[in-house]
This record gives sequence, C-alpha cells and structure tokens, in this order.
Amino acid sequence: MSDPRPLGGRLGAEYSGADPNALPLDALNAALLKHKVLVFRDAGLDEEGQLRFAARFGALTRAHPTVPSVEGRPDILPVDGAEGIRSNTWHTDVSFVRTPPKLSTLRALVVPPHGGNTLIASSAAAYRDLPRQLRDFADRLWAEHTNDHDYALPRVNAEKAAEYRRRFVSRRYRTAHPVVRVHPETRERGLFIGGFAQKIVGLSGTESRDILRLFQAYVTRPENILRVQWNPGDLVLFDNRITQHYAPDDYGDQARVLHRVTVAGDAPFGVTGDASYIIEGDEAAHYTPVLATV
Ligand code: SIN
Repeated sequence: MSDPRPLGGRLGAEYSGADPNALPLDALNAALLKHKVLVFRDAGLDEEGQLRFAARFGALTRAHPTVPSVEGRPDILPVDGAEGIRSNTWHTDVSFVRTPPKLSTLRALVVPPHGGNTLIASSAAAYRDLPRQLRDFADRLWAEHTNDHDYALPRVNAEKAAEYRRRFVSRRYRTAHPVVRVHPETRERGLFIGGFAQKIVGLSGTESRDILRLFQAYVTRPENILRVQWNPGDLVLFDNRITQHYAPDDYGDQARVLHRVTVAGDAPFGVTGDASYIIEGDEAAHYTPVLATV
C-alpha cells in the first residue's frame, strides 16, 4: 500500500480513489496516528461500507446520546444542514460523556458547490506551541464538559431551535476531563477542551472562560488547522482523542448532508494518569460500550 499524501504541515493526509476497506488495518492505524486526519477521496462507500470501515477500528457507538439516528440505522448520525445541524463551534465529538468516541468518520452524501467545508485542528500541535510555563499550568487543570449549553443550535426557526435544544439536553451530562489528555496509543499530549468544555474545575465561570479562551486560541491557530473541501463520496476519518473540528456555516440554503459514524473510546487520562470522572449523568451505556482505560 502506498502511503497517503500529506495535506498539511501538521496534520492530514489523503488517499485518492482507494477502497478504504481494502487497505490493511495496521497501516491505516499507523497513518491515522501520524496524520490524525485521513481523507479518502472518492471512497465509493455506501452506508454498509462506512459502518464496516469504522467497525474495523473497534466497537461502534450509537449515533448520539440524545440526537436521533438515520431512520433504521442506529449507528449513523445524520448531519443535515437543512435540519439546521451546522456544527460551527469548535468541539471534540461527544466530549461531555466519560468515554467519548476515539475516532469519527464522516461521509459526504450531498455537498454545496462551494462552502460547507470541515476544519479539523491538531490539539497536539496546540499543546506543543504553548510556552513551557503554560504547558506546566495546563498539565494540572481539569475541565468540565457538558451538553447543557447552546452548542450548534439550528438556524431554521425559533420553534425548531427550541425543540432541538430540548432533545439535545434530554439527558444531561457533565464530565471532568484533564485539560491535557495523554493519547493512549502514542502518549502524545494534546489540549482536550473545545466547545463542550465550559468550566475549569475549581475556578469561577469568569476565570474559566479566560483560561479556556487562552488555550483554545492555540488550537485554532491557522498552522494547526486542516480544511477539508468535500466532494460527494469522500470519507474522512479523524482521531477524536487529539483533534477538534468545526463546520463553517457559510452555505446558506444549499443542501449539505454528511453521515457520521463513530468508534467507541476509553476514558481519557491526564499526565498524572488520573482518568476522567462523571459529575452529572451516567456512563451513557445506551450510547457507547464502556471500555477499560488503556
Ligand atoms: C460534526 O461535528 O461531527 C459534523 C462536522 C461537519 O458537519 O462537517
């Protein structure tokens, strides 16, 4: 198998026209750990193919802890702009539960002729960019992640927005994760924050916002971001343990539909080895198998 073509200086690599299910798993996993984002152009996968591909990396999660799946497909989350699902907040998928997915796959079904890209950032590069004093500070912090805030509200109308929010928070989760997560396979350190991180444990809301903004600014530096421009049929796989992503809401009324399938992950741990813990809610066992921490 030839290596994927690097896309950015710090993350991202691309396969062209390869059947992702025909590529050897160990080489794919090595490429993913190295590049953090793999883009498969013209992957030629249908729903079954995407599910099969994701399942090669481990047990799948259900579509989402609170948002309904594609009809008859409990493991596929529809990301449909017409339904107002426009994730224009930097985030790590489902980081409000104790064991967020380790990997996410997105498959493009319908994309606008321009706009509707996905930005993916390396939180490892962000951590490495921090001055040593800030790295030492971040190493000791924990953040509360929750679904109970105004993440990615539908733009459609007020009624739909209220209904979406009701559903999104129909079960409430609040989890403490280390601000610096150690990757369980590479031992790389990354800033594990993003939009669901609303508070630093032990600090006030105001102090938390300022500190989170400071660290988040390193994640979203242009150097640390890959921009994926979609074509129908493309598949993207990214490491949810050490990236954040953002979908710019710049395509107006044009259609955009992606399908997301995620692979279950274990509980994050920080530089001391301590693992994430629940503050509110449960293990989300209806959504994700609970895996032992590595
Ligand atoms: C997501 O947040 O998983 C969806 C990203 C996108 O719409 O590009």
